[in-house]
Amino acid sequence: MNVLVTAGPTREPIDPVRFISNRSSGRMGYAVAEAALRAGHQVRLISGPVALEPPAGATRRRVTTAAEMLAAVQRNLGWCDVLVMAAAVADWRPAHPARHKLKKRDGPPRITWEPTPDILKAIAPRKQCHQVFCGFAAETAALAREARRKLREKNLDALAANDVSKSDRGFESGRNALTVYLADGRSRRIRLADKSECGRRLVAILEKIAAKKS
Ligand code: CTP
Repeated sequence: MNVLVTAGPTREPIDPVRFISNRSSGRMGYAVAEAALRAGHQVRLISGPVALEPPAGATRRRVTTAAEMLAAVQRNLGWCDVLVMAAAVADWRPAHPARHKLKKRDGPPRITWEPTPDILKAIAPRKQCHQVFCGFAAETAALAREARRKLREKNLDALAANDVSKSDRGFESGRNALTVYLADGRSRRIRLADKSECGRRLVAILEKIAAKKS
């Protein structure tokens, strides 16, 4: 299968030296890419700014902003059988990033925010019958309800949710625990394990969904 994976955070510029971003390290997405390669799939990785080497055998396209990530996903959409959106895409960006560095003497800036494009929602109308789309969700409360809402609203086949209120998993950790919510109403638990193991388990789940669709 052709597997497209997005990973890492996006950065939205405030001025030439400042940005807003989030705590994503990219490790979960890179682990999914690695697991898909090891399972014999072709892998393309679209990555926000992270301090990780791409797994050998994957092609990597680096992007910075949500808009760049959307463009890169759109370019590769026709190629993929499976899309895993593990990236932590910023939801808001400064509407008018300053062209010159904001100076401290001018006081705290008033920033007008605008929404970034929702990549999964934007591509949902172009989804082909055989394609499997999987999202990720990092939640601190009402995990199951939020996960099912995103699964439905983003027209996904699977959504891997993790509880980031616990310090032993998720952001900036080598381990994770996931509940994978499926479009048919069922769910699958991936218990606390190295992200590489979580990646392997998730790829196996997505392979099964793809096999059912073909
Ligand atoms: N996502 C996306 N485009 C965005 C934001 C998120 O495609 N602008 C994707 C993420 O890559 C992830 C899924 O949507 O696979 C869920 O991301 P999340 O940030 O949890 O969801 P939001 O839609 O931002 O919802 P909320 O802010 O209510 O948690």
